[in-house]
Amino acid sequence: MCGIIGVVSGQQVHQKLLDGLLSLEYRGYDSVGMCTIDKNSLILKKGIGKVQEVHDKHDFSRNGGKIGLAHCRWGTHGGITDENAHPHVNEDKTIALVHNGIIENYAELKEFLAQKGHVFSSETDSEVIVHLIEEFYKKVPLEEATRLALHRLEGSYALGILSLREPGKLVAVRNESPLIIGVGKGEHFLASDVPAVLKHTNKVIYLEDKEIAVLEKGSCTIIDYDGKAKEKQAHTIDWGVEAAEKAGYGHFMLKEIHEQPQAIAETIQERLHGNDVVFEDEINLSADEMRGVKRIILLGCGTSWHACLAGEFMLEELAKIPTEVEYASEFRYRNPLIGEHTLAIAISQSGETADTVAALKEAKEKGAKTLAICNVKGSSITRIADGTIYTRAGPEIGVASTKAFTTQLAVLYLLTIALAKERKALTGKQIGSMVQGIRRIPLQLQSVLAEDGEIRNCAALYHKKTNSLYLGRGVNFPIALEGALKLKEVSYIHAEGYPAAEMKHGPIALIDKEMPVVIIAPQDVYTYRKILGNIEEVKARGGIIIAIATEGDREIPKKADHAIFIPKTLYTLSSILAAIPLQLLAYHTALMLGRDVDKPRNLAKSVTVE
Ligand code: M6R
Repeated sequence: MCGIIGVVSGQQVHQKLLDGLLSLEYRGYDSVGMCTIDKNSLILKKGIGKVQEVHDKHDFSRNGGKIGLAHCRWGTHGGITDENAHPHVNEDKTIALVHNGIIENYAELKEFLAQKGHVFSSETDSEVIVHLIEEFYKKVPLEEATRLALHRLEGSYALGILSLREPGKLVAVRNESPLIIGVGKGEHFLASDVPAVLKHTNKVIYLEDKEIAVLEKGSCTIIDYDGKAKEKQAHTIDWGVEAAEKAGYGHFMLKEIHEQPQAIAETIQERLHGNDVVFEDEINLSADEMRGVKRIILLGCGTSWHACLAGEFMLEELAKIPTEVEYASEFRYRNPLIGEHTLAIAISQSGETADTVAALKEAKEKGAKTLAICNVKGSSITRIADGTIYTRAGPEIGVASTKAFTTQLAVLYLLTIALAKERKALTGKQIGSMVQGIRRIPLQLQSVLAEDGEIRNCAALYHKKTNSLYLGRGVNFPIALEGALKLKEVSYIHAEGYPAAEMKHGPIALIDKEMPVVIIAPQDVYTYRKILGNIEEVKARGGIIIAIATEGDREIPKKADHAIFIPKTLYTLSSILAAIPLQLLAYHTALMLGRDVDKPRNLAKSVTVE
């Protein structure tokens, strides 16, 4: 939540700050601000609205200066107002600060500072930090004043700070909110994530919690909270700036939906060896440990939690390991029992979701072996877990998760095979056919994408409906939940996902001729006949049926109002194919309603606060 960017350079920085803001906007779009130092004065512009709106109003390109900070906000403390927009400054406008996170003890700090005569101009928790730094900024450099102030702060924060007194210096701080340093030619950046700096450099330093970076155009030094210097290596990022651009698509969401064949291919290819699955050193579990796992706990939030539910199905059904799924936010606030030989797996696209980070730490402290399934290299979750399996989806910018989800499903499928093999839960022949099944998925996804016409037709017919039901069974129940979440978040239409058989226990009362019901009904030996029965039940009550069916199915088109076809595959893998039409349905519906698809209201891409 919130994006921050800072640059100190030998050249003008306003365009770099603006580019950074545009690429970080998915993190928050309540308000925007920029400040630079030019001719010994601080130029501060900020206001509510999206980046382009605030830029149109204030014209950031007229901000001169070779050093600056910018921020896009997802409000937590204080309303969506111009005053609460960042950067925040002290009263005499000599120090400016941008913040991502939450200061938990801000109320008592504010009282303490007010007694000392500080006057506040916003309702935010962030503003207290700039006043606190000012308190310590007497005869010491900015980084030392910051370091002293940090000892008084409780909570999560990534900070960028600059001062008129030292106009060639930016101070960057990280504690439980993401922050990277970009190392450019004759310039340095601080940013909430990598795409914000990729246009200018592919060399980044990942800051750890409780590290302070002092950036000047030609140098970057890092100290810890005790003031001790630290050596850190810059990493080279192997994806280019074009990966984080729209490439001719109208929206990132649509581009990312269409990238799924490629994303899955990249996620699986280096892990498939002939008819086998091999995770080199990623998992960090010995063969003995893999055989010894007695219980798996899957942790995640939102879409990643839905991937956990599908993972539970796969791990129990195929690897025969007792598995539980937990909302990360709930897990961290009870006293979960972690027995011996428990493997906790955190699933997260960003690797920065505050609740998932905390839940994973909790599981680790209680003695579980830990594993992350994550899309962002070097993110917090990957640094906590004993091992990480990366989804190779590339940067996901659309706030609604699409390719991250299906690559998570692919990784869970491969992990299930690897564990099943080690534990002899499946035969070599079964493993071989599972491997062949997933090898076909990228190509099969292309043919699902070709169903776009019928999906668009459904969106055109039903985008004005105010409710929707999504039904699925077995491994496709989580896909129904995910379809409903996608529709809710991008179109703002109320939607619910249910296990199809649960419908009779209540939701069936909602069904009438105004209710579109999306039913995932692949032809499988497990649930197909039952689902046909569920379709009849909806039909008998006048509901509108949009069925996701297997190519060649002759029954479903007779019963459903619309049939969208996915190719025949193994039952477990039908979850990956069935997710795509639901993403497209949400996308087209939102578009027809004129929604801001990539930046739905009230949301932010990574929820780095509780
Ligand atoms: O980065 P993560 O996977 O940890 O994010 C978890 C959720 O915040 C995320 O999936 C959210 O639900 C998305 N908006 C769903 O599209």
